[in-house]
Amino acid sequence: MGDEIKKAAELLLKSRFTTAFTGAGISVESGIPPFRGNDGIWGKYDPHFLEISYFMSHPRESWTVIKELFYDFFAEAKPNNAHLVMAEMEKRALLGRIITQNIDNLHQEAGSREVYEFHGNSQRLICLGCHRLYPAREISLDHLPPTCRECGGLLKPDFVFFGEGIPQKALGASYEAVSLSDVFIVIGTTGEVMPANQIPFMAKSAGSKIIEINTEPSNFTGSITDVFIRGKAGEVMQKLAAELFTASLDDDKDGINENFEVHGK
Ligand code: APR
Repeated sequence: MGDEIKKAAELLLKSRFTTAFTGAGISVESGIPPFRGNDGIWGKYDPHFLEISYFMSHPRESWTVIKELFYDFFAEAKPNNAHLVMAEMEKRALLGRIITQNIDNLHQEAGSREVYEFHGNSQRLICLGCHRLYPAREISLDHLPPTCRECGGLLKPDFVFFGEGIPQKALGASYEAVSLSDVFIVIGTTGEVMPANQIPFMAKSAGSKIIEINTEPSNFTGSITDVFIRGKAGEVMQKLAAELFTASLDDDKDGINENFEVHGK
């Protein structure tokens, strides 16, 4: 892994604009299981509950599963070192933006500012009647389905259900990232889901070098990945930080961020 880490660090330090593309795997070390793979969510829950047509016709049944999955189980999840290192990379101008497929808000909680949510965010609820947005923490889920205080309309998590379109802001930011970037770092995603999985392919076609971090090969590994670092995102990003921040320290000597200790190489 050492050589790949060094190769990745070289690409990132030379890069004019780097975009990160993240998936569920980056949050596994925060206690949130992936959707696919051995202990994946879709092995235990029927994705049918997250189809927009089912939600509209059976809101209470759909909300019962949504509450258990996204609000009871994962409410306490905290950013792990992968999220923290990426926030530090942004501070040091080593990362331009993050396009995430995740709805867990952990990149933002780690301090990243340029985060574009391809599948929305579970920490917001939207009223399907008047489109008012609420922070999820302000809405009781003791009685389901939750309704809007203003118009009584049905509240829905502000993330993308199967059968819904991708938020325009995230799509626009992704296409712009494809044209701006010369490096894409793809972390913790199978690359199974359209249209999100097209973004790294588009970036490759536009000339970006692709760095990939994953515990397993993905749909990207054998086709567009230039540097594949096999391992857990939190562990790999800590090793990468040791290369990047030491090197960038030589430039600006402002000290390694105290948010996380950086172990020796
Ligand atoms: N570190 C890095 N990668 C990991 C780790 C880890 N600790 N643990 C698992 N992985 C990898 C797996 O090998 C897999 O490639 O993370 C990936 C998780 O894949 P998925 O569960 O398919 O997640 P993702 O690719 O983000 O799914 C895309 O599918 O159901 C929809 O909307 C949902 O956004 C999600 C989309």
